[in-house]
Amino acid sequence: MKLGINIDHVATLRQARRGEVPDPVYAAVLCELAGCDSIVSHLREDRRHIQDRDIYLLKKTVKTRLNMEMALSDEIVKIALDVRPYQVTLVPEKREELTTEGGLDVIKNFDRIKTNVKNFTKAGIKVSLFIEPDKKQIAASKDTGAEFIEIHTGRYADAKTEKDISCELDKISKATEYALSIGIRVNAGHGLDYKNTPAICKIKGIEELNIGYSIIGRAVFVGLERAVKEMLEIMK
Ligand code: PXP
Repeated sequence: MKLGINIDHVATLRQARRGEVPDPVYAAVLCELAGCDSIVSHLREDRRHIQDRDIYLLKKTVKTRLNMEMALSDEIVKIALDVRPYQVTLVPEKREELTTEGGLDVIKNFDRIKTNVKNFTKAGIKVSLFIEPDKKQIAASKDTGAEFIEIHTGRYADAKTEKDISCELDKISKATEYALSIGIRVNAGHGLDYKNTPAICKIKGIEELNIGYSIIGRAVFVGLERAVKEMLEIMK
């Protein structure tokens, strides 16, 4: 299983002072040197963390794969088609949320998503849809022509009791199995940390985990290289 690191949280710290440090572009270099497989970055409409300058620079500097998270707003779509990352991950976005809450409703927004998947694919950009582990959403995702889904692991990460944790794990496992059976590739992420990641790693068929908050949070104390290496070690 591969590890994509979301470096937005570095930009959040920089934006606290609207300053120049810490630079998420530097963070991406260090994550890659420590062995991660891709860099994830979300250019939000409100620009609360990653700025346009970051995403253009990341495109030039990332040596692994740049996975650009984005909402389907006309402005951001235009930028993504200009930046041409390796992959885009389409996510829902609400102004008031602290982070991406809930998955994309592919059924409700089917036509719009399908058109955009087609445009991105035509431009040579792979598309992933960030969705809940729900059979109907997975089937609709497949019908849009997207190559990947990213299963939202937030409910699993938030589960408190053994019973709820095991129930959420089961949903992710069944969703992965179903997605693979209809020919769509699977990534997963959101809320994963040094404690709850091993159980996800046991699910066969998930190709990549996208993790940000826990790794960047740990890096404040142990350094980014060690934080990344510890996560890679756990995943093994
Ligand atoms: N995947 C997606 C689609 C996300 O929106 C996020 C959060 O930006 C992540 C993964 C990483 O989540 P976390 O920061 O909780 O590890």
